[in-house]
Amino acid sequence: MTREVTAAAPAKINLYLGVGPVRPDGFHGLATVYQAIGLYDDVTVSRAATSSVTVEGLGVEVSGVPADETNLAVRAAVLLAGHGGLDPAEAAVAMTIRKRIPVAGGMAGGSTDAAAALVACDALWGLRTPPDELAALAARLGSDVPFCLVGGTAVGTGRGEVVNPVAGMGTYRWVVALPGGGLSTPGVYAELDRLRADLATPEPELPDDLIAALGEGDVEQVADLLANDMETAALSLRPELGEVLAVGREAGALAAMVSGSGPTCLFLAADDDQVARLRARLEDAGTATLTATGPVPGAHVTSTL
Ligand code: C5P
Repeated sequence: MTREVTAAAPAKINLYLGVGPVRPDGFHGLATVYQAIGLYDDVTVSRAATSSVTVEGLGVEVSGVPADETNLAVRAAVLLAGHGGLDPAEAAVAMTIRKRIPVAGGMAGGSTDAAAALVACDALWGLRTPPDELAALAARLGSDVPFCLVGGTAVGTGRGEVVNPVAGMGTYRWVVALPGGGLSTPGVYAELDRLRADLATPEPELPDDLIAALGEGDVEQVADLLANDMETAALSLRPELGEVLAVGREAGALAAMVSGSGPTCLFLAADDDQVARLRARLEDAGTATLTATGPVPGAHVTSTL
């Protein structure tokens, strides 16, 4: 019997994030292009007499991450156990979440931990839940959890939970700048609504030109077509992010943008030399950085005992 399973949980970025008007259910209609990048949290689940969760930060501040049943990864385990018809004794797990993805940084750290918890628990319990059922459970947990299961490069519609893979070529080298602190996703959506209060906001549309450039693996063309509607709202709440983006642009980044709802900023680099140059300039200006390439596969089991 499997005793312990570890799954890798990649960070997500939005190459394109078109945000429509607020819907009657309080969510915003999205037309987005996601990419999973090689910056990972790990989620380990092992059979236990009673359930518990431990959150460890590997170079990131985790004091804001709930280490109790409200953690989205724990809710994922409970949801899957219910779906699989497990009784509470069978479903008790000791969960350890090791975090490298910045918390509240706009990179879906909590969502990807939930996706990893789904695949890890599915393997631990031998449920073999079909992918469409796993995706439906993921959508109940959060708008970007379904993408985190799939990974790669994909378009997202609905509130982000309707995911379809994009046939992509090429490798994208990202420098990830961590200006410190977090931004609340609902808070940034609210700021966007406030900034747009007097404007007629159209329904967002998927960017055909960007999707075509991704299909060709044309990194420079992709760089020109990256866009994020949330950026103005994140900059409104944290104006100093504009300086971080300017440092990267002046250092020659192919593109500079806020990641999702921020405050993490992303820079697309042409090659490894440019990655090193961008990191040096950003660090000189007092901003911590990471580097990651994409696309990578979604949440997946990395070890089983
Ligand atoms: O889906 P998720 O729980 O990750 O969303 C967190 C919050 O972000 C929502 O409660 C909502 O305020 C906002 N949101 C939104 N429109 C989306 C996705 C999220 O307004 N498409």
